[in-house]
Amino acid sequence: MTRIAHLSDLHLLEPAVRARRGGDWFRVHYLSLRRSIDYVARRARAEQALRAAADHGFDHLVITGDLTEDGALVQYEVLADVLEASGIPPERITLLPGNHDAYGTAVPWDIAVQGPLARWAGTSREGSAAWLDDCVIVPVSSAVPQTFLRSSGRVESHALDHVGAIAGREPGRPVVIAQHHPPYAVMHQWVHGLLNHEEVTGLLEARDNVSVLHGHIHRRKERGLVVGGPLRIFSPYAVADNATPLRMYDVVDGLLRPLAPLAPRPDPLGAVVRDVEAMGGVVLRDVGAFGELVRRDVEHLGEALLHDVEHLGESLLHDVEHLGDAIRAEEPRPGIRRS
Ligand SMILES: [Fe+2]
Ligand SMILES: [Fe+2]
Repeated sequence: MTRIAHLSDLHLLEPAVRARRGGDWFRVHYLSLRRSIDYVARRARAEQALRAAADHGFDHLVITGDLTEDGALVQYEVLADVLEASGIPPERITLLPGNHDAYGTAVPWDIAVQGPLARWAGTSREGSAAWLDDCVIVPVSSAVPQTFLRSSGRVESHALDHVGAIAGREPGRPVVIAQHHPPYAVMHQWVHGLLNHEEVTGLLEARDNVSVLHGHIHRRKERGLVVGGPLRIFSPYAVADNATPLRMYDVVDGLLRPLAPLAPRPDPLGAVVRDVEAMGGVVLRDVGAFGELVRRDVEHLGEALLHDVEHLGESLLHDVEHLGDAIRAEEPRPGIRRS
């Protein structure tokens, strides 16, 4: 049985975000509505969510977009750093972009997966798929370049053709579309929704082995295509907003069966290890700071000694010259007799 972990909407910032000015500052301020512009807190949330997923165990992890706040290259570098530090093998993670990853001076997704996210490209670039024992996960981008005053999306038809081809080739195997926007109409649909959501639901209607994992709405939700029908569309809380955003699903009888809301697993040993690691980090930092202080003091002492020696040398020279003058003044001159 395959187990899938699902996270979404990390909205990661860069360390120097507070040094932004002008339009760059306004954009990140506007996009961070109701979220504090706190690089450390956002990163900590992402690290915590990845740790929770790893602690619970899974076969594959899907992160459904809004990975960054506004798609800056340095924000993708932060994401790569966080994923790397999680220790989760890259081939077991599927990433895809959301509307926030395509704002402002955002790096296009295909460039991001050739750059900072290259290690995850095999399961995350356009046209890729993660083939698991009893299902296939296909990342589909719904991110489109647009003004940051809008948050809509659109799925390219060739991406849906790719999913349809896989689903048709293996009708007995569940196929999971991983995309950012929900495949149904939402409030303020023109501004906020997936503009061609009917094309995705059309695919779901045509292929009953296809399900969707999405983000964007920042809410835990699930629904079927018809009232009372099997659940086929799922979303989790946003990592950026929620302390327990992780969702898990088991692949059972050709469909995703969501697990009940997950409580943090008791892990006293892990907690001790993490505390020791954290303490080690603090000690390392303090030792580094102490070393720097010692280095500065030694340099300062060296300079002071050099200055004193130079000063002493000058004083001695001056005294010797003065003494020489005095001796010369005391010497009897020829032809002068002293009484
Ligand atoms: Fe989001
Ligand atoms: Fe979004």
